[in-house]
Amino acid sequence: MNKHSSPRACVVGWPIKHSRSPLIHGYWLKTLGVSGSYDRVAVTAEAFPAFLKTIGSDGLRGANVTVPHKEAAYALCEWRSEAAQAIGAVNTLWWDGHRLCGDNTDAFGFAANLDDEARGWRVDGGTAIVLGAGGAARAVIYALLGAGMRRILVANRSPERVLALAEAFGSAVVALPWEAAPEQFEGADMLVNTTSLGMEGQPPLLLDLSRLRRTAVVADIVYTPLTTPLLAAAREQGLQTVGGLGMLLHQAAAGFERWFGVRPTVTPELRALVEADVLGGQEKPK
Ligand code: ATR
Repeated sequence: MNKHSSPRACVVGWPIKHSRSPLIHGYWLKTLGVSGSYDRVAVTAEAFPAFLKTIGSDGLRGANVTVPHKEAAYALCEWRSEAAQAIGAVNTLWWDGHRLCGDNTDAFGFAANLDDEARGWRVDGGTAIVLGAGGAARAVIYALLGAGMRRILVANRSPERVLALAEAFGSAVVALPWEAAPEQFEGADMLVNTTSLGMEGQPPLLLDLSRLRRTAVVADIVYTPLTTPLLAAAREQGLQTVGGLGMLLHQAAAGFERWFGVRPTVTPELRALVEADVLGGQEKPK
């Protein structure tokens, strides 16, 4: 028997050293008693198409895709989920026996994390403000529209990027200049940061949140640090806050089920394990 005949999956990116996906999938493999493995694979943009051809052989059931390959994965797979088509990027690949298939589970992960951490966030007909216009913003917007939000105002530093995004999503999504976001706070049920501002090594996202409604939810998809300056400011105002780590945990579940045949759950123990890893990473000297 081939040594790789037991099911395996991996996360593929460049660089890949800091990915926490092996920790998450390793926890599920162990606690669910599934025989299989999950590794990190460093692949350059040039080598990515050749890597995709290995999916489906030697036990490799599929892969998570991270920076910078999510758009290339979208372009190169042969079947795409509805979410992947709306977002224009793929983070989960699998071989269905005939074709390379791609999904984007970031939108599901974002919504599932809010369900865990901000009960009552699904305001049918509500308004959300989204900061940023990259792939993560597209996943968040797709999730918010799916949850029944009626109006999404998107502000981004580069105007051309946010205009293209708003056009792709249609009339429910409106582009704003970056500086205009705070003017809209009074009417918003939710504020979401999808930019890299507030991430370790990046400038903080500093906003006056006093005009947000007391019932508004503030979410950040950044999880290094676990409490970003935006979330700290929102907590100071007494607002409900949601960090980014749970999105990472929940987006992983669908891939695990595809590759290993068992639907895993995001347990408090898993959350604590990954939180400890993030905190440990913060203490390490660079
Ligand atoms: P992702 O796929 O994670 O969304 P991305 O496509 O690189 O990553 O998008 C990063 C987002 O952070 C973009 O909206 C980017 O704004 P631009 O489109 O103007 O580049 C935003 N961003 C990064 N640094 C920023 C900064 N210093 N100020 C404001 N926005 C910033």
